[in-house]
Amino acid sequence: MASIDRPKILVFGVGGVGTIYLYLLSRVSSPTAVCRSNYEVVRNDGFIINSSIYGNGIRLKPNVVRDCAEATFRDSRPFDYILICSKAIGQDIPDLISPAVTPDHTVIVLIQNGIGIEAHYQATFPNNPIVSAVVYLPVTQRPAGVITHGELERLEIGSYPSSASSEHSEAFTQLIRHAGGTAEHHDDIQLKRWTKLLVNASWNPICALTLCTDANFLLSSPSSSELVSDVMLEICDIAKAHGYTIPKEILELQLGRATARIGNGNGVEPSMLQDVRAGRRMEVEAIVGNAVRMGREKDVKCEKLNMLYLLARALDSQIENKRRTS
Ligand SMILES: NC(=O)c1ccc[n+]([C@@H]2O[C@H](COP(=O)([O-])OP(=O)(O)OC[C@H]3O[C@@H](n4cnc5c(N)ncnc54)[C@H](OP(=O)(O)O)[C@@H]3O)[C@@H](O)[C@H]2O)c1
Repeated sequence: MASIDRPKILVFGVGGVGTIYLYLLSRVSSPTAVCRSNYEVVRNDGFIINSSIYGNGIRLKPNVVRDCAEATFRDSRPFDYILICSKAIGQDIPDLISPAVTPDHTVIVLIQNGIGIEAHYQATFPNNPIVSAVVYLPVTQRPAGVITHGELERLEIGSYPSSASSEHSEAFTQLIRHAGGTAEHHDDIQLKRWTKLLVNASWNPICALTLCTDANFLLSSPSSSELVSDVMLEICDIAKAHGYTIPKEILELQLGRATARIGNGNGVEPSMLQDVRAGRRMEVEAIVGNAVRMGREKDVKCEKLNMLYLLARALDSQIENKRRTS
């Protein structure tokens, strides 16, 4: 089992979310960061973090590597934890992290949005503990190496599958708390995933496809609120078919929050809308496609969600084509 006493940690995907956990964990360990487009900047100058919680102008100079093979080459001791904080796009991450995964030892922690994202890791690493985490953390990286973080930091943590021993997920929860973060342990983290998906799988594709903030979408037509509510109800039905009841009040609360933003000019831009505007790939499969597939598996009617999925997938493929040819 990974030791809580200065565990050896690798953070894969060090953008907004990855940098905040890299920063917190650097208080209790010397984590290594696998960087990609921000590699040169971070290696030379480190990160600057401006956070409503931790303060402004924080300088963080982590150990930086280009890939997991380099991370293991530098220090052959096994990693106790690998945190996956990249966007959940594509199926290649298990292969990319495999040089740093020691069978029967390394705990793989997924800090990503989406549903059904753990199975691929479990299939690739059947003998490693998998910890699934739902993160509430408004954070962006812009430009490379400069992190802006808002007023919330919360990790909901559990084992995958939920029937697996909670030894490692509880140890990771303690580690985050020890580092000064906010961590809650849940016996069945999938309910928390479905609850977050209610917002992500509805508002993300709607806003990305319409180029509207949530408030602007609600303003755009008398029926727009009904569409959001219908999509959310379909997500609730899929979750229920898989054994998870999302309380109806959560749906009302979420819709109410967006409605309250009408008129005060503070509509929210969900991450997929930000991605479209920046010409970046979106987490369509992890957030919408997997939900639709899980609906089909149980014969749940989810026509509106399916339409959003097909349209968002088409938009994402155009973004990918454009990136390839530019
Ligand atoms: N940001 C938020 O406010 C927020 C809130 C809650 C949940 N989340 C979820 O948290 C996860 C991470 O989001 P984020 O906003 O932190 O994303 P992000 O800012 O885009 O950061 C992801 C990082 O992963 C890197 N990466 C991707 N593939 C890689 C690879 N193959 N090798 C090395 N590095 C790789 C990216 O590098 P490049 O720059 O080279 O692409 C980027 O630095 C997502 O699932 C998101 O939905 C985000």
